[in-house]
Amino acid sequence: MSVLVLGGAGYIGSHMVATLLAAKRDVVVVDNLLTGHRSSVPEGVPFYEVDIRDKAALTEVFEKENIDQVVHFAASSIVPESVEQPLKYFDNNVYGMINLLEVMLDFDVKQIVFSSTAATYGVAKENPIKETTPQNPINPYGESKLQMEHIMKWADQAYGLKWVALRYFNVAGAKADGSIGEDHPIETHLVPIILQTALGKREKIMMFGDDYNTPDGFNVRDYVHVMDLADAHVLALDYLAKGNDSNQFNLGSANGFSVKQMVEAARQATGKEIPAEIGPRRAGDPDSLVASSAKAREVLGWEPKYDDVKEIIRTAWNWLQKHPNGYEDR
Ligand code: UFG
Repeated sequence: MSVLVLGGAGYIGSHMVATLLAAKRDVVVVDNLLTGHRSSVPEGVPFYEVDIRDKAALTEVFEKENIDQVVHFAASSIVPESVEQPLKYFDNNVYGMINLLEVMLDFDVKQIVFSSTAATYGVAKENPIKETTPQNPINPYGESKLQMEHIMKWADQAYGLKWVALRYFNVAGAKADGSIGEDHPIETHLVPIILQTALGKREKIMMFGDDYNTPDGFNVRDYVHVMDLADAHVLALDYLAKGNDSNQFNLGSANGFSVKQMVEAARQATGKEIPAEIGPRRAGDPDSLVASSAKAREVLGWEPKYDDVKEIIRTAWNWLQKHPNGYEDR
């Protein structure tokens, strides 16, 4: 069985590739390298620099390789950027998905594991959030991912395409050996920004808003380790290979941490001071996103190994100390 990893040179995709290789699976990677890094994919893994919106190029990959299953990480995923450039999100994410499914169906490939997101829930009516919690996104990114889920649902009904949507909460951390990690061309994510501050590459961290409807007034998020997330994808691929029905699962830790608590946890994990200031709210941010992952544990048998946010931060810190300038390949 060959697994095609779309976006396999990105942050989460590269950890997925490492996990699949460790599980002795055959892997093929497609990435347009807009935000991914060629050097994050090991030599010897078939690699195609292709944009999933390019149907002819994607078709060629399916012609050359014997693909059985697809894992789809190749989407734009920055909440504030999506508020400023919504059309970019609907083009890359929604149009990209339609193109991908058309090519998959041309080759009779009918199993896909898809990176969905907690951002599809918006300001959730219940906490922790369950898979049945109504999805009402409050930013274009979340909206685009919800539309992608819906497209797969109808493609299942029409063509028998089986899918698993994994709704990630806030992914952080790096492979324990520090060989791969998080490196975005423009960093917007909380944990790497805090750690770049700890390293002295930034003067301070700006905490966006202290007047949210949360215990300390700062945004609350649920942080999950990237290697635990990758494990869940392998379980989801196996779930589909066994002939199970399409499904969706939340992936988080059920523990919420505010921005302020994360800065404090990073101070403890790194032993650094990490100057922080309170700034205005950032557009598109819901107050609190905390997952119930009971369904993934019960149905997929998912057992996250990292249950301490400081441990998650330590693995990201290990990567950053070893690679203060990231992959250095752009
Ligand atoms: N934040 C700051 N200062 C910063 C950066 C972030 O205070 O410099 C805050 C944000 O306002 C937010 C929290 O830290 O409250 C987390 O922000 P991130 O940008 O790290 O992550 P998001 O919650 O915006 O989004 C992430 C992923 C999405 C995913 C979502 C699911 O980027 O793809 O988690 O919860 F959908």
